[in-house]
Amino acid sequence: MEKLVSLAKRRGFIYPGSEFYGGLAGFWDYGPMGVELKRNIENLWWKMFVQSVPNIYGLDAAIIMNQKVWQASGHAEGFSDLMVECKECKKRYRADHIKSDRCLECGGDLGEASLFNMMFETRVGAKQDEDSKTYLRPETAQGIFVNFKNVLDSYSPKMPFGIAQIGKAFRNEISPRDFVFRSREFTQMEIEYFVEEKNWEKEFDNWLLFMREWNEALGLKNVKEIDTPRDNLAHYSKKTIDFEYEFPFGRSELYGLAYRTDYDLKKHMEESGEDLRYRPHEGEPFLPHVIEPTFGLDRTILALLNEHYNENGERGVWLALPYKLAPVKAAVFPLLRNKEELVSKAREIYSSLRKEIPGVAWDDNGNVGKRYRRQDEVGTPFCVTIDFDTLEGEENSKDTVTVRNRDTMKQERVAIDDLVDYLKEKIGI
Ligand code: GAP
Repeated sequence: MEKLVSLAKRRGFIYPGSEFYGGLAGFWDYGPMGVELKRNIENLWWKMFVQSVPNIYGLDAAIIMNQKVWQASGHAEGFSDLMVECKECKKRYRADHIKSDRCLECGGDLGEASLFNMMFETRVGAKQDEDSKTYLRPETAQGIFVNFKNVLDSYSPKMPFGIAQIGKAFRNEISPRDFVFRSREFTQMEIEYFVEEKNWEKEFDNWLLFMREWNEALGLKNVKEIDTPRDNLAHYSKKTIDFEYEFPFGRSELYGLAYRTDYDLKKHMEESGEDLRYRPHEGEPFLPHVIEPTFGLDRTILALLNEHYNENGERGVWLALPYKLAPVKAAVFPLLRNKEELVSKAREIYSSLRKEIPGVAWDDNGNVGKRYRRQDEVGTPFCVTIDFDTLEGEENSKDTVTVRNRDTMKQERVAIDDLVDYLKEKIGI
């Protein structure tokens, strides 16, 4: 884990939040590489689960919603973890993270466990009374439920159909830890898939397969599916399968697939008085049931870094990220930075690649070996070197460049005219 945290910081994937003010536990900032990786994951997810599926609708709901949403959903009352506090130093722990009855910090006595609601409270508007109180959303899902009827009214979708959303969620975790694994601000990618009750098992199984496809696309091998025992289920769920990944600190939840029944729509219908029933062409109106595949984006990044991190003494570190997800797809080098004709040819190629391929970098620092190392560390699949043969080589090497592949370390001469197509085909864009 230390290696991942250090690589993430050094190469601009993830920085500690508010760092020079001493940081703020549970908050992280994504740097230039991190933000590209994050977007590539979001784009792949959106393409796979929204754009390629005819009956899934996208949504981007407000993070802050009326407090009644959280009363109806049960979060205001029930979104709590058991907490214990040290009687001496007052440090607080999540009860299920503590194995002894002594404080890990000072060895003091721990008090009785009490419930701690993890939602961040905030006030809306100038008046600071109970009515102005609400919360930062602890899951994106509720934004979907409160827009269920809007989508129904706009599109009259046939059952089954889904609504998908990518966005921030906030939880005042008692003990944020393990890098971005348990943070207080994180991104979720969620789908609420509305089905007829009689079909829930079939739809649940379909989603299980679909989620496995996603894990394969990410190249994540160490994923185990765990059926959550009944007494451990969230307050809204009748069945949940957790996808657990072998993180550096142990196996833990990466994603979840839950059968939420009609719990949420029923609660919102009761609280708001709005009729949320689905009206089929034939038959009686009914409340749909919900299958919810949920994906944590930050945990995805941690799993990807861990899975694709490689290191050996000779080569150093290389991240074998799937090409589609790599923040930089190709880096362009002039063999020597002080040879004007090489630099200008390389600049020309760099500009033309940038127009066609997202994520092209320029590097002319140090020798080519050092540049390969730098690009390997951030997972760049292809490095393109412009050398003297490019300018004035024999007939079969003039106007060609060297393309080096991150995984095989093999080098190929590719004609400049074919370079864009060559890279696009290899990257799969
Ligand atoms: N809407 C359902 C829901 O929110 P959850 O299991 O509480 O279910 C869903 O969260 C996903 O969000 C998790 O599988 C995980 O990937 C991510 N997640 C949850 N809490 C997190 C935290 N504190 N830090 C980072 N990711 C978190």
